[in-house]
Formats: sequence, C-alpha cells, structure tokens
Amino acid sequence: MIQPRLLTRRLFQQASPLQSLSNHAGRPIRTSILRSQARRSYAASGEKGPRPIPGQSPFKIWPFLAIILAGSGSYMLLVKSRTDMAAAAQASKSSGQIAAPKKDTPTFSSDKVTVVFVLGGPGAGKGTQCANLVRDYNFTHLSAGDLLRAEQDRPGSEFGQLIKDYIKDGAIVPMEVTVQLLENAMTETLSKTKDGKGRFLIDGFPRKLDQAVKFEESVCKAKFVLFYDCPEDVMEKRLLKRGETSGRTDDNAESIKKRFKTFVETSMPVVDTYDKEGKVVKVVANKSPEDVYAETKKKIEGRI
Ligand code: C5P
Ligand code: MG
Repeated sequence: MIQPRLLTRRLFQQASPLQSLSNHAGRPIRTSILRSQARRSYAASGEKGPRPIPGQSPFKIWPFLAIILAGSGSYMLLVKSRTDMAAAAQASKSSGQIAAPKKDTPTFSSDKVTVVFVLGGPGAGKGTQCANLVRDYNFTHLSAGDLLRAEQDRPGSEFGQLIKDYIKDGAIVPMEVTVQLLENAMTETLSKTKDGKGRFLIDGFPRKLDQAVKFEESVCKAKFVLFYDCPEDVMEKRLLKRGETSGRTDDNAESIKKRFKTFVETSMPVVDTYDKEGKVVKVVANKSPEDVYAETKKKIEGRI
C-alpha cells in the first residue's frame, strides 16, 4: 500500500483550486454591474437635459451646467474605477492561477512505465478486479479515491476539507490535487526500483477530461483504458451493501445518486474519448467477480 506523501511544493505554490474558481466566476458579474452603472450615469449625465435657449438669461443655465458637470465627473470616475477593476481582475486572475510549470514532456516515459487506467461507475468492481491483476501481473495499484481519502485524513492537509466536501457530494475534486497525488505515489514506487521501470493500474482515474489531459501531458502516457461496464441497479445494490461496513461518507443513497449523475455526465465522456482512439478494453461487469476476472484476462492478453 502506497503511503501518500506530502503534496509537493509545486502544488502548495498554486492558489487554492476553489480560489481560482471564484476568480473565474466573479469577474464577469462585477464587470456587468459596472457596465450597467456606467449606462445609468450616461443617462444621468444630461443627454436628455434641456438645452440653453438663446436670448434667455444665462443665470438659468447654471443649474443645468452644474448637473452636466457633476454627471460627467461621476462618469469619468466610473470609467476609471472600471479600468482599475479590470486591471485588478486580470492581476488576480494571473496570480490566482499560477499553474504548475508547464512541462513539455511527461515525468515518466512510457518506454519504462506502463499505465493502465481503470474506469467504471461507482460499484462496478474496479478495486476487486485490480487486486486480481496485481496478484497475476505484477502491477502496482493506485486508487485515486483512496489517495484522496488519505490526503483528506492527513493531519495538516491544506486540502482536507475541500476533498471531504467534494467526495460527500459525489463531485470531482479539482484535478491538480489528484494528478499531483498520483505523481507522488508513482515517484515513490519507482524510487524503490533499480531501473525506474514499473506498471501501474490507476483505478478510478481519469474521471473527467481535464484529469486525462493533464496526466498524460505531465505525468505519463496511458497504454489503454480498462472499462468495467455495469448497470446502475447492480452497482447501487453493491454500494448499499458495502455501505453497511465501509464507513465511507459517500456510500449512502443520496451520495450514490449524485455519484451516478457525475459518472454519466462527466466520466463517460472520458471513456467515449478514449474509445474513439481505440484505447478502451470493455468488460461486462454485472456477473460474479470470478467471471468478470476471466473476461478481463482474456481481453487484456496481448495488450500488456
Ligand atoms: O473511486 P472512488 O469511488 O473511491 O472515488 C470516491 C470519490 O473521490 C469520487 O466520488 C470523487 O468525489 C473523488 N474522486 C475524484 N477524482 C477521481 C477519483 C475520485 O474527484 N479521479
Ligand atoms: Mg474503489
């Protein structure tokens, strides 16, 4: 079992993923408020105001001139504050999104390191099948969910509460956290080898396209995706049964429903994308664990 290490400094240098989300969400709202304020002050600036009538006493014009001056002044102030706000938003956007340095090549070469992604809905049996594959094919099993739970429970973790909230809600944790945890675990495993060679089953990952892109770009290219296809009613029964003893905060009816929704809307597009590239090995997973494993072995022979 891989012990999760501290997230590296690279991860801590990044702003909190939540912070960068709020930067994205906040900027357009503020800008639109300012725009509408600016429009209001155009109207207030006297476009519809009375014009001086030739021949009339100039003293009657003063109140209107004063309104025009005040209106123009406040408009200028609004324009300035809008410009300042845009600059501040830009600055906070760039500082809030300091991503890990972009790498041109992944940390691990696929000549030395084999990565197989293992996907399937919650309760499809990924963990059970991975244990069989570890026994027979000398893989190291890394479960993204297990690594996230360990990081959540690590005393002093900056991301503990964030991970807890996402998991309970069946939502996908911001990918920087998960990708970094996986890279750390792979580094630790490979550091114990003489030649830096290894085989990894990465279970429950990538659950979202951005995780897939980031991992393959910066950590390692994946060889193929093992996809366990299982109907929801079977998965639900398994999860509720597991919930009797697992102690997991998300093995309850309400969280399970959210997890299914996330799987269909966010994770299936990952499977479909890899399928188009001919990289998906699909195994029907509603049978007994033994039968599912027999089909798994048959289907992966020749691919590993
Ligand atoms: O795979 P597992 O069911 O253990 O995942 C539990 C939870 O961990 C998911 O529902 C999700 O909240 C989070 N997770 C994630 N990204 C992953 C894997 C798991 O956000 N790649
Ligand atoms: Mg699992």
